[in-house]
Amino acid sequence: MLDGKAVVAREGENVAALLARLGLLFSPGGPTTGVVWCCMGACLACAVRVQGRGTVQACLTRVHEGMRIFSGPPPNA
Ligand code: FES
Repeated sequence: MLDGKAVVAREGENVAALLARLGLLFSPGGPTTGVVWCCMGACLACAVRVQGRGTVQACLTRVHEGMRIFSGPPPNA
């Protein structure tokens, strides 16, 4: 689930790849606040929130069944 909407990930896909494939990652005004710069966990530009894990780097986080991903700023930010 991405921001409460069902999405289908590919086998082995990470969150950044999922968002990019859905046309959401690089879209100005899209749901994500970040972009992908380094793709190796160093810049934190791709940060998203995952239920039960807090803020993670989308480029390093594999999608799994039942995962709930939240883009944009955290509540109360
Ligand atoms: S793109 Fe740099 S940490 Fe993910």
